[in-house]
Amino acid sequence: MFNEIEEIVVKKEEIQKKVKELAYRISKDYENRELVLIGVLKGGFIFLADLMREMSIQVDMDFISVSSYGNSTQSSGVVRLIKDIDIDITNKYVLIVEDLVDTGLTLKYLKDLFNTREPIDVSICTILDKPSRREINIEIEYKGILIPDKFVVGYGLDYEGKYRNLPDVCVLK
Ligand code: IMP
Ligand code: MG
Repeated sequence: MFNEIEEIVVKKEEIQKKVKELAYRISKDYENRELVLIGVLKGGFIFLADLMREMSIQVDMDFISVSSYGNSTQSSGVVRLIKDIDIDITNKYVLIVEDLVDTGLTLKYLKDLFNTREPIDVSICTILDKPSRREINIEIEYKGILIPDKFVVGYGLDYEGKYRNLPDVCVLK
């Protein structure tokens, strides 16, 4: 697996540092509030697990699964709901936890979907941001690390289902 890597874009130490920073900010901002973290599967599961273990407040969590990519490296532009959350988010604070914001279409879809369920607020946290490809202007309250316009894998992100377990964010050969 490692000999298929062309370049490391973000090292695991830099990710860890950013995760701590974000967790600290979130813990302060949501103190004494009923917060639900919603991880976006599949890519967001590693970040969610790391983020919540660095947080110092009580949180509930769930996962949602959507697909916009199929098996290619280009967004299809159509977001499909694969698995919904089980918990009730009415009158709760919701924080969507994403691996990477690219076009922004996935988050727009999720934010609109959750807002129909009358939460107090829906905010967004992403560990990686690829702003050069944004198609929809979407506000991201907790932004991690900016990356260039390259297709990356690792830290939850895949290419055709593989490479999610790479500890660094990498470009393939
Ligand atoms: P968006 O809807 O275009 O913002 O895409 C969001 C999702 O597409 C991300 O959460 C990723 O799961 C996936 N994605 C976007 N760019 C990449 C990439 O460079 N590598 C792997 N997955 C990506
Ligand atoms: Mg994703």
